[in-house]
Order: sequence, then C-alpha cells, then structure tokens
Amino acid sequence: MCGIIGVCSVDRNVAPMISLGLRRLEYRGYDSVGVAIIDERNVQVWKAKGDVDSFLSRFKIDSIAGKTGLGHTRWATHGPPSDVNAHPHMDCRGKIAVVHNGVLRNFVTLRSILELRGHSIVSDTDTELIAHLIEDETQFSSSFFEAFARAVSRLEGSYAIAVVNEEEPHRIYFARMKSPLVIGVGGGFNAVASDIPAIVEYTRRIIVLNDGELGWITPGEVRVFRLTDEGLVEVDREELLSRIFFIEWSVEAASKHGYPYFMMKEIVEQPDSVRSTYEGNVSDPVLKAIASLLATSDNIIVTGAGTSYHAGLVFTYYLANIAGRHSIPLIASEYKILERAVSKRDVVVAISQSGETFDTLEAVRAFKGKGARVVGVTNVVGSALSREADITVYMRAGPEIGVAATKTFTSQIMLLTLISIYTAREAGLLGDSEVEAEIASLAEAPDIVRESIERSIEVINDRELGEHRSAYILGRGLGAHIAKEAALKIKEIAYVHAESYPAGESKHGPIALIDKEFPVYFAATRDSPEITGNIMEMAARGARVVVVKPEDYKLPVGVKEAKIVEMPPTKKDIKLDPYALTPYFQILAYKEAVARGYNPDKPRNLAKTVTVE
Ligand code: M6R
Repeated sequence: MCGIIGVCSVDRNVAPMISLGLRRLEYRGYDSVGVAIIDERNVQVWKAKGDVDSFLSRFKIDSIAGKTGLGHTRWATHGPPSDVNAHPHMDCRGKIAVVHNGVLRNFVTLRSILELRGHSIVSDTDTELIAHLIEDETQFSSSFFEAFARAVSRLEGSYAIAVVNEEEPHRIYFARMKSPLVIGVGGGFNAVASDIPAIVEYTRRIIVLNDGELGWITPGEVRVFRLTDEGLVEVDREELLSRIFFIEWSVEAASKHGYPYFMMKEIVEQPDSVRSTYEGNVSDPVLKAIASLLATSDNIIVTGAGTSYHAGLVFTYYLANIAGRHSIPLIASEYKILERAVSKRDVVVAISQSGETFDTLEAVRAFKGKGARVVGVTNVVGSALSREADITVYMRAGPEIGVAATKTFTSQIMLLTLISIYTAREAGLLGDSEVEAEIASLAEAPDIVRESIERSIEVINDRELGEHRSAYILGRGLGAHIAKEAALKIKEIAYVHAESYPAGESKHGPIALIDKEFPVYFAATRDSPEITGNIMEMAARGARVVVVKPEDYKLPVGVKEAKIVEMPPTKKDIKLDPYALTPYFQILAYKEAVARGYNPDKPRNLAKTVTVE
C-alpha cells in the first residue's frame, strides 16, 4: 500500500527525482511522507504526517543536495498516521534509514527481542524494527550486506524494503517478499520503486524483482541475490539482463491531461481502453487456451477483491449464460472456505487490476497448493499475479492511477466476455460463425461507453444524492452485479452508504428502511423485466426512484413515479448492457464526491493497491 522510491546517481542531486516519484506514488498511500538523502557525509531524514505537496514545499525537498536518496508515501498499518510513524525509520545511531511496504507478522516478537537487546524503538511501526535489526546484525557480520541479508532472513510476512547506510553513500539495498518492487535501470543512475509510474519518467528499462530476492544498486551496478536454504545465491548477469523489459506506455498516459482528477480522466478514457482490451485480445491464442481449460475443468472458481471481484461476478453470469458453465464467485480474502474443496481438476480465474493485491495472491497460492490451475487476469505486465498464474491475460487498459477503479472494470468485463464466448465454442455451445457474430457485436462497446459517458455527464446533478447519507443501488440478473460495483464507487469516494443487493430481496427485509425520498437507483438490464415489480414497490413507499436502463430496453409497464434515465441503446444485446450502465454510476459517484468537497483520487483510508492482509 505504501509507495517506495530510491535513486542513486553518479552526478545528479536525486531529490527532484524523488519528489516527482513521490507525486506519482501518492495514489498508493497518502497519510504521511518522508525522504532520506545522503550527501557525502551523512544521512538526513525529513518526514511528516500529511500529503506529498505540503511536505515537499514545507521542507524544500527539491533543493536538498545528495546523490543517493529514498522516498516513501505511507498508508498506515502499524500505528496511526503521525510524524514519528512516517518513514524513513532509522537505527539507534541514525546511520541506517529504511522505507518499507508490507506487514511484518513477527512484529511483536522482533520488537521484544530488540528491546531486550537495548534498542530504543521510538515509533509504533514494524518498519523501524528493520533498521534496528540490521544495526544489531552488523555486530555479527563481516559486511553491511551480510547484516542486511541476515536481518531480512529474520523477517516474516510481506515486505518491499529499500535501505541506505551512511557509510556507503552511493548504494541502496533492497529486498522483496510478497510486496511489489522493481528496479529501474538508468544511464548514470539506477532506481528501485514499488511502482513503475514512480520512475518511468527517468527510465523505461525495468526489472521486476521476485519474492525472496535482495541485493543492491549503485549508480552503475545492479546486483540481485536469492535467499536460499544454502545461503545467498547471486542471480547471474545474463539472467538479469534477460529480465529487463521495456515499458511501452508513456509518461503522458500516467498524467492527468488537463482533467482535475485522474478518476475523471480514466472514466473518459473508457472508449479507448475498452477498444484496446478488445482489439489487443480478440485474436490472442492465450484466450483459446484459457477457454479450453474452462470448458473441461471440474469446477471454476472466480476470485478477486473489490471491483475485480465485481467483474468476476459479471464473468460468472456470462460463463453461465453464454458458455453454459457454472462457476463459483469467491471474494479472495475468503479463499479458506473453499480451499479444502479444490483439486487439480479445477481452474481458478484470479482477477486483479494491479496483479499485486495480497488477498488475491494468497488465494492463488492456496489453490495452486491444491493443484488447481490458475488463470491470471491483470492489467500490469510483470505483476506478481502474472508470474504466479499458469496462464495470464492482460487487460491492456493502460495505467490506472485513481484509487477508484473505473476503466479497468469495463476492460475486465470486455476481456472476461471474450473468454466466455471462446469457452462456449470449446464447450460445443457455439459454432465458429456464431462465435464470430458474438465477437463482432462486442466491437460496439467503445461507442456505447462513449455515449453513456456523454449522456451521464449531462444528466447527473452535482449533488444527485442531496443530503442523503444512504442509498440503495439495485438490480436483478446481470444488473445486480453492475449495481454492486456502482455502490462500491459511491461508498468509496462520496462516502455515502450505498447498499446493493438483488432487487428481489427488498421485500425480505431491506424495504423496511424506505421512507419518503430515500434514494433508490435501479440498474435495469434487459435480462430481468421482473425488476418492474421492485421499482413499483419502492415508488409506492415514497422512495425517490431512478431507473437507469438502455434506451432500447422497454420496461413491461411504465412507473410514473420513477425517473427513467435513458442510456444509449445496446442493440438488444445483454453483452453490451454493462457499457451503457456503468459510466452513469461512475460519474454519479465522481460528481457527488467533488461536490461534497472530497478528492476522488485520494479517498480517505484507501490505497490503490492493497498489498497487506
Ligand atoms: O488491483 P486489484 O484489482 O486487485 O484491486 C482490488 C481492489 O482493491 C480494488 O478494486 C478496490 O476495491 C478499488 N478501490 C475499487 O475502486
């Protein structure tokens, strides 16, 4: 969740590079910020609770001299946001500075051991213990790297770490376990970072580190080792060179392009991102391989978290309705409820925009341990999911910076719909010409999404939800899944309690909450005309009812008390309904958040990628 950057340069002061990196990383966590810079003599740390911009200007970070440095944006796990809990953390002598992303499971044990050994721990964090551990290990080691490696081998849990040591002013040590960390290979400098956008302005040559790897960079050298039972084994130069890959997307793609917030930029980008997903995958033989797995497996489990889980729900719908295959949707953090029931004849489809979500990766590891084959669906090339899955497909949606997933949701749906269609062919439900027709109809999606965005921007009020603190977002069939994602968007950025459940459930309890003007939104998809009854029930009790539907889908009976919002027609094709309805709710959440004075790119308590348990 936290963001990390470290740069060492042969001749440049690195503070401006770190500042820019911190701005790019702010979406990861933003409760506190810190920087450590080494000039030729000592390591100095600046850190504070608050946001990146205030921090950078308050301490005039750009003007600090020094050719090696670290930066960190924090998303609190151990200890509340505060100056003292901000990273970097230092050892007792103030010579070692550490930044960390992850959670140490053996935090309590390590802390008591270190305190018994006389270390004075000043913060509530697990990270500070790493600095003290390294300091402690130097007494038993012949080099700083040995002490660092010994300390790392005592850590349990997840970590991406970058460390500087005052006595080696041109070197940054790093280690990775279950938290993302990459190396940027530059000219006259090298860098480490938790995320590629932090360094892509400076280099496009990236090495993704694997779990269990550690090492160091200097301005001219990258050395990577594996921690094995036999000790440290160096990754040879040839292998390391072969792992360098080039980032194709531009710096531009990760900047706001004149929009006030990334979220709006990414909403508006959906016609392009959906097209890119479609065109980039439609003829990819990997989809056929996945389809054949799905058509022949015993069970299919579809897992992910948040928005990715909601895309998974849509997938289970299409798998059943296009390919006739039953699948089990599973929230990734709940993987244990199915772990014992999974076997090697099963397939797990794991969906994750970032490919780094801890819960999703834990589920993948558990199911792989049972012999299941894993299909990874991700947006990030080189992500942990892409490396742990047996087969990976990429969303090709371009970088998504806003914490609220928007364009990646519609891209996930596109990709998973393509997979469902190919699975139908493998399962013998559709012939070649039918598959061709189904695939061709999806080419309409970018235009539908564009028109839906335009109409939504026009029809949605800034304070659509008024002073209401709660709302229901309902649907049936496919619409129930779209409604779930809509409710998540409204909750996470507008801080309105939006609840979503299949509309038919209202009469079994939730309708008791309805009083005059209670907002109830319906995502009406063409598979569920019965929703009309639910709309009438709500309207009859005085709710403020809004029905969002494709223009060419007529409700069987008119409900005069409900406001009907017409989204673009979807050619009577249920596969196109998500592109007509989803942008409406994204834009509603966005407008509501902005009008209430919230920053939709940085919702409180959230981070873009949740790399902790
Ligand atoms: O990177 P992932 O798709 O694995 O992320 C999963 C969730 O953390 C993510 O979708 C989260 O719910 C977003 N904030 C939703 O807008």
